[in-house]
Amino acid sequence: MGRALAGALIHAGREVTVWNRTPGRASGLGAREASSVEEAIEAGGLTVVCLLDDASVRETLAPVARELAGADLVNLTSGSARQARELAGWLEGHGARPLAGGIMAVPPTVGTDGAFILYSGERDLFDRAAPVLAPLGRPHWVGADPGFAALYDMAALSGMYGMSAGADHAVTLVQAEGGDVETFRREVLQPWMEQMLPFMVAGADVSETVPEEYNPAMQAAGLRTMLAASDEAGVPADLAGHLRASLWRMRRAAA
Ligand SMILES: NC(=O)c1ccc[n+]([C@@H]2O[C@H](COP(=O)([O-])OP(=O)(O)OC[C@H]3O[C@@H](n4cnc5c(N)ncnc54)[C@H](OP(=O)(O)O)[C@@H]3O)[C@@H](O)[C@H]2O)c1
Repeated sequence: MGRALAGALIHAGREVTVWNRTPGRASGLGAREASSVEEAIEAGGLTVVCLLDDASVRETLAPVARELAGADLVNLTSGSARQARELAGWLEGHGARPLAGGIMAVPPTVGTDGAFILYSGERDLFDRAAPVLAPLGRPHWVGADPGFAALYDMAALSGMYGMSAGADHAVTLVQAEGGDVETFRREVLQPWMEQMLPFMVAGADVSETVPEEYNPAMQAAGLRTMLAASDEAGVPADLAGHLRASLWRMRRAAA
């Protein structure tokens, strides 16, 4: 991801200095390679951090804490809301101005039209940083609370993995009963999921979104049938475990 970020900035004409624990991984990009973290921070402008996780960011920044005073530091490393808040507090304590981010893109889509990046932290800093960061993906500020970018990032990932688990369960079911998986994926699952996407996103508030059509008793019966079909096919019910929570919610709504 670091390579994709640096590459998009360079492509947009920005001057970029990079540091990576293993040297040479930015070769061929046209970035200036710093030989230490201090040197990268001292290059000035915005400091963008994108490492494996919160622990690796802490491990990398702690030894250079004294160099952070006055730095505008954008952390695009994935983490939890609490980690983002604690890191922002630590950075402020060392005189840096922190902006927390969540990348809603994968390396090949960084800098493309669909890519966007969530940011949270001081609005002034976001306004100054956004034009510089725009080549990475549309900058989208989600609030002053430094934890919000991470919160929305993790929640959005949960939505994606939930859909992915649902698709996995669907394919497993078809396979277990001898269906043609490829045809099912292409001709049924994809168009069906595309049609239902707006309702899936409306999620728990579907009753408010489509009040006329919403019938919790029917929905609950449908989910029961679906779980029974899974049992019939011998597909572990755990794969559809998330549906039991929906069933519980619909039963309550129907009561
Ligand atoms: N890839 C994606 O699709 C994607 C999408 C959205 C968000 N993200 C987020 O972007 C971040 C980076 O992901 P990635 O795909 O680049 O992962 P990656 O390919 O595994 O790269 C991890 C990077 O972190 C560095 N690193 C790991 N541990 C370190 C440590 N203890 N100290 C210093 N540097 C350390 C690695 O350096 P070395 O080269 O020396 O190993 C490498 O540069 C993650 O937080 C990820 O969740 C990724």
